[in-house]
Amino acid sequence: MAQEDVFKKLVSHCKEYGFIFPSSEIYDGLGAVYDYGQMGVELKNNIKKYWWDSMVLLNENIVGIDSAIFMHPTIWKASGHVDAFNDPLIDNRDSKKRYRADVLIEDQLAKYDEKINKEVAKAAKRFKEAFDEEQFRATNPRILENQAKREALHARFAKALNDNNLEELRQIILDEEIVCPISGTRNWTDVRQFNLMFSTEMGSTSDGAMKVYLRPETAQGIFVNYLNVQKTGRMKIPFGIAQIGKAFRNEIVARQFIFRVREFEQMEMQFFVRPGSELEWFAKWKETRLKWHKALGFGDANYRYHDHDKLAHYANAATDIEFQMPFGFKEVEGIHSRTNFDLSQHESYSGKNIKYFDPELNESYTPYIIETSIGVDRMFLSIISASYCEEKLENGETRVVLKLPAALAPVKLAVMPLVKKDGLPEKARQIIDDLKFHFHYQYDEKDSIGKRYRRQDAIGTPYCITIDHQTLEDNCVTIRHRDTMEQERVAITDLKNIIADKVSITSLLKKLL
Ligand code: GAP
Repeated sequence: MAQEDVFKKLVSHCKEYGFIFPSSEIYDGLGAVYDYGQMGVELKNNIKKYWWDSMVLLNENIVGIDSAIFMHPTIWKASGHVDAFNDPLIDNRDSKKRYRADVLIEDQLAKYDEKINKEVAKAAKRFKEAFDEEQFRATNPRILENQAKREALHARFAKALNDNNLEELRQIILDEEIVCPISGTRNWTDVRQFNLMFSTEMGSTSDGAMKVYLRPETAQGIFVNYLNVQKTGRMKIPFGIAQIGKAFRNEIVARQFIFRVREFEQMEMQFFVRPGSELEWFAKWKETRLKWHKALGFGDANYRYHDHDKLAHYANAATDIEFQMPFGFKEVEGIHSRTNFDLSQHESYSGKNIKYFDPELNESYTPYIIETSIGVDRMFLSIISASYCEEKLENGETRVVLKLPAALAPVKLAVMPLVKKDGLPEKARQIIDDLKFHFHYQYDEKDSIGKRYRRQDAIGTPYCITIDHQTLEDNCVTIRHRDTMEQERVAITDLKNIIADKVSITSLLKKLL
């Protein structure tokens, strides 16, 4: 099945099973805003817990905060967001559609990659075992030609971004003959900058009202509080502050479901270090964060680093962790060495001394900062798309199963009496009374057992427990494993331990040590 079709199915699956609904649906929706349903919120909470615990439980020197969304507007002037948090936009005059100029060019780069990969796949199929991919890539004329075009485009694009050269971005789009996917024409306007921050007014009268912004990142709430936390928590450098919270961006082109939305959640950790040690910490956090992703077990080949061509105004090193989504490798997390830019700016704009006194060096300085920043919604999308499977069964039927990591699954177990009589429902309720304090469960007695299994597969429940007539005699139940569909007979008294071991966030955290 084409990846596009898989993606469409995934989107409708998310709606059908209560993971994600379009916002304000009965009013025909609101562009690039989504609501999380009864299953979605559980999965999202589990993702957040995995991240939070990996930061604040596993690191003695990392603590959390929860700062307000509204902040003093000067913060956004100081941080550079008022002047520089822009995306280059371009319109197609025929379709009247708006695009991000940089994304059009990135898509063009991906097309060259696709051409190259197709050529390699074709040759691998033709030559079978005798195929030497490295040699083929180094010598095939069509690959070399596309590779050279890609490299030239990449160099030109990176330079245009770094020089902030909007005319050159437009020229690249024209030279590469990039067409509007809707009108198919190259009738492009000039490229203009567009600020992504939402604003509103705070105050009761229109004269006295103050323009405030909906934060486009949670990071600034950490920076302006870092000294409060450091002093009250008696923190010593190096230390980190973690935060999970909503962020808002008026994205020009919001696409690909929850990948790029206008209201989203971030999980950000700012790590404060001595000046000069930042690149060492940057390398450490790069590695630590990739390990966190890989521990989910989706396969190491699905991840890669992507170093930035254009560094943000605050960074001296930056990389993304990308994940293989159904629409290609895409950024899920950014790791940035933010220098002392933000703190220095806040010191200068606020007029307050916010330097850190280092008791070991007996001197004050402005700490440097390493940031790890990951979008909850993007992480959600990467997890759900990697978990979605359609499997052909021996009896010819197809089952749709979400192979979610058990620790993240919204429902951990389903309890099912084989029939709705003979005391089986009562026995099932007894089991639930014991387990409900530990696990999110569902009770299901409707339809055939096969149909009930399918319903649980569709929401990713790792364990189904069936109570049958024999259970009344031997106090044993059948436990059915989601991925293998294998069944085993276990004593009711062992259930809690068997399940707890597999579904706790601790099982994931242990992989990080
Ligand atoms: N504080 C740094 C920062 O905000 P960023 O690379 O702009 O850096 C970090 O964003 C992460 O936030 C991204 O890797 C992505 O996961 C998520 N994110 C950013 N914009 C988003 C959007 N419009 N929709 C969903 N997630 C977004």
